[in-house]
Amino acid sequence: MEKIKIGIIGAGRIGRIHAENLGRLHEAEVLAISDPFADDSLRKWALELGIGLVTTRSEEVLDHPAIDAVLICSPTDTHVPLIKQAAAAGKHIFCEKPVSLSIEQTAEALEAVRSANVTLQVGFNRRFDRNFRRARELVLSGEVGQPHLVKITSRDPAPPSPEYIRSSGGIFMDMTIHDFDMARYLTGSEAVEVHAFGSVLVDPVFAQYDDVDTVIVTIRFENGALGVIDNSRQAVYGYDQRIEVFGSGGSVAVANDYPNTAEVHTASGVKRDKPLHFFLERYTEAYIEELKQFVSALGGSIPVPVDGRDGYQAELMALAARHSLKLNRPVRLDEARQLRKLATTHEGGM
Ligand SMILES: NC(=O)c1ccc[n+]([C@@H]2O[C@H](COP(=O)([O-])OP(=O)(O)OC[C@H]3O[C@@H](n4cnc5c(N)ncnc54)[C@H](O)[C@@H]3O)[C@@H](O)[C@H]2O)c1
Repeated sequence: MEKIKIGIIGAGRIGRIHAENLGRLHEAEVLAISDPFADDSLRKWALELGIGLVTTRSEEVLDHPAIDAVLICSPTDTHVPLIKQAAAAGKHIFCEKPVSLSIEQTAEALEAVRSANVTLQVGFNRRFDRNFRRARELVLSGEVGQPHLVKITSRDPAPPSPEYIRSSGGIFMDMTIHDFDMARYLTGSEAVEVHAFGSVLVDPVFAQYDDVDTVIVTIRFENGALGVIDNSRQAVYGYDQRIEVFGSGGSVAVANDYPNTAEVHTASGVKRDKPLHFFLERYTEAYIEELKQFVSALGGSIPVPVDGRDGYQAELMALAARHSLKLNRPVRLDEARQLRKLATTHEGGM
């Protein structure tokens, strides 16, 4: 079978992980990577992976005649113009989350994808975690019955840099967005209303950027189910990623993943090592699986597992949560679209 030829835009944390993971797939080959700050160390790394072209210009990747698909792994505020350019060039697209910080711009990008008739997958990697996927299967198969409650805990081991916080789009767009997607994925239902509560308890720098570091979001779904998400930018005991779906027939829960199962029992107590450190360690296999499925979808053997609509709906939940926090009341998703039009808040803040 002919390999799918891929170009990567953005060689930061996630771009490099995806490049390395694609190197393990027989069905795909990375031909080029672009980053405005490409330097000798990037060239050396790319050479070791067998990537032939390293460039500072994304156009060289987008216009490359042999490339079938691009992975957009640059900062979020660059995604929409790059999606439009890629679609116009007839390239299939994998775009990191979130598609953008503005649902209007995301809608425009999705329209460009639709009219160019190219494929778009959005980088909600947690859907590909084997344990979360099993929970979803148990909901789909009816084993836990009608879903009544979904609970998601998602806490980072340490906050990001002030520079990152400044341009992140705020905690709901940057961090909770994964949990909004997970809530939709696990319940199989759309959210109709969210109510968000937030505090600055970890670092006052979040307040400087009109952001918060600790949140609770409650969700009401179309099918009547209720959800609760809690996030913290700093869990001192490590990356905390747990879910539970409770339904009419039972419940399914997923605990944290650990680097080992060793437990130490002594006179002073019982202890074990911290959970896997952060997203790169916790979701190593999920990142590989999401690209395997992207490549399979391009080959036509499966539907795209996470499409543009999934990206849009999670962003709409994030937007509603942001308004809910500001207004100190629940906000419906259809109302969030209207409030957005009236909003004067800048994109960089929460
Ligand atoms: N799915 C996940 O688990 C996950 C994890 C981390 C980041 N992300 C997302 O991935 C994206 C990148 O995040 P990151 O953590 O890798 O950031 P990063 O800052 O580590 O890397 C971004 C890279 O893009 C480069 N860049 C900037 N402008 C560019 C342009 N116009 N064209 C090409 N490259 C450009 C930068 O020089 C940098 O090397 C963000 O949208 C982020 O939300 C997703």
